[in-house]
Amino acid sequence: MPAAPPAAPDTTTDVVLVVDFGAQYAQLIARRVREARVYSEIVPSTMPVAEMLARNPRAIILSGGPSSVYAEGAPSLDRSLFEAGVPVFGMCYGFQIMATTLGGTVDDNGAREYGRTPLTVSKAGSTLFEGTPTEQSVWMSHGDACSAAPEGFTVTASTDVVPVAAFENDEKKLYGVQYHPEVMHSTYGQQVLEHFLYRGAGIEPTWTTTNVVEEQVALIREQVGDKRAICGLSGGVDSAVAAALVQKAIGSQLTCVYVDHGLMRKGETEQVEKDFVAATGAKLKVVDAEKRFLDALAGVSDPEQKRKIIGREFIRVFEQAQLEILQEDGPEVAFLVQGTLYPDVVESGGGTGTANIKSHHNVGGLPEDIEFQLVEPLRQLFKDEVRMVGQELGLPEEIVQRQPFPGPGLGIRIVGDVTKERLDLLREADAIAREELTAAGLDRDIWQCPVVLLADVRSVGVQGDGRTYGHPIVLRPVSSEDAMTADWSRLPYETLAKISTRITNEVADVNRVVLDVTSKPPGTIEWE
Ligand code: XMP
Repeated sequence: MPAAPPAAPDTTTDVVLVVDFGAQYAQLIARRVREARVYSEIVPSTMPVAEMLARNPRAIILSGGPSSVYAEGAPSLDRSLFEAGVPVFGMCYGFQIMATTLGGTVDDNGAREYGRTPLTVSKAGSTLFEGTPTEQSVWMSHGDACSAAPEGFTVTASTDVVPVAAFENDEKKLYGVQYHPEVMHSTYGQQVLEHFLYRGAGIEPTWTTTNVVEEQVALIREQVGDKRAICGLSGGVDSAVAAALVQKAIGSQLTCVYVDHGLMRKGETEQVEKDFVAATGAKLKVVDAEKRFLDALAGVSDPEQKRKIIGREFIRVFEQAQLEILQEDGPEVAFLVQGTLYPDVVESGGGTGTANIKSHHNVGGLPEDIEFQLVEPLRQLFKDEVRMVGQELGLPEEIVQRQPFPGPGLGIRIVGDVTKERLDLLREADAIAREELTAAGLDRDIWQCPVVLLADVRSVGVQGDGRTYGHPIVLRPVSSEDAMTADWSRLPYETLAKISTRITNEVADVNRVVLDVTSKPPGTIEWE
């Protein structure tokens, strides 16, 4: 293989850095900043200040964190951060660290506040609070409290028990609040954050998904040059949007591969084969591998075994397709497109997006290992932003708004072994549930709604004049933020009744529909 092509260059966009002090709030803050149309990225609090400043941030936000500023080993911050002339906004722990570093007083005076708390703004018209009411509700989560602001700061808000709940220093462009403006329970939180960005830091709200598309198209062109790229489509949002972006950038130098494993929901393969191609003009290679997957899954009912088999077959089929593309005439195939998102990047500790991926082949005639460089145009984006980019690129609504769906597909929604007949039956039931949820306008209220076939269970029923002995279908609608935890969705009875009636009437062999009312934990979202 020749020398690796250049890595994806960094973006040139103005950036606001969110310093992560280890709470779960940093990603939310970064999203809120972007909702204010200002680009933001998360950096760990262990990053040296010089390195943060070297990024030329337009502003820096210090997130909340779980520690007391006085706890042993609590994250600290070099004072030079506050002396660089870069506007800084501290929130919760970030506020306290700002206070102590600059000579204010933070102590444990027993003034703990958790949850919704009334805040009194003492300086109406301040940079942060202008245009917001004197009394407002904010979300607190702290033990220690600030009792004296550092010199040069004006105290702009307090609560019943905390004398200094916000302070501002317009001259030095340093601001802080004890509460969490990023959570929706802080009624004017977004406004306060925007005041910091626009008024405090003087940043113009210009970051949009249109900019993202233009910027990424230019970067992809630069990275790929005149070589070729491959992108695997799964039917999901991320791979579709990544492929559409790369297609816009390099056109026919991209070949997309879709492995039809026969485990998709009704209409989804057609969405990729027809609608995606129509919307993007992408070159698509579809591999019909249904029989291969079903043969490999025959007689297997253990969920982990199913996952392993599906994963293994998928890689084999995909690599065979890659090989065929490599053998086609044309420039070198050097890139693999992946729909990696920003939360994955943050959670895996950052990185620069230059990793290579090796493909191992056991088919003769070509190098043993083929090394691809990754193109990851969504590495800076959150899921909702990916959907917006997809919309911008004209992808069909069904693809852009698609709810999460597991890679192993319906294979892990049949409790029992997987057969073509069972898949067809489940596909029908799932399509009815989806149709009725959409008709009731509930798509945005639920995170996802697995429809599960209990193929190993039969129960007695009566239909027409006869006794039946059919299978139950389980509806598993859940609401969730990130699939880590979930609650069962309280769907209207009328919608549930419609789904139940239609499934038992229209799907042969199903004589019962049951609703899963278990949260996660203890239940997982999927049944397998
Ligand atoms: P659980 O069932 O663990 O699901 O609560 C959490 C989220 O992950 C999805 N899921 C999968 N996604 N391959 C995937 O790509 C899998 O094997 C898999 N299992 C579960 C599930 O749909 C939910 O969104």
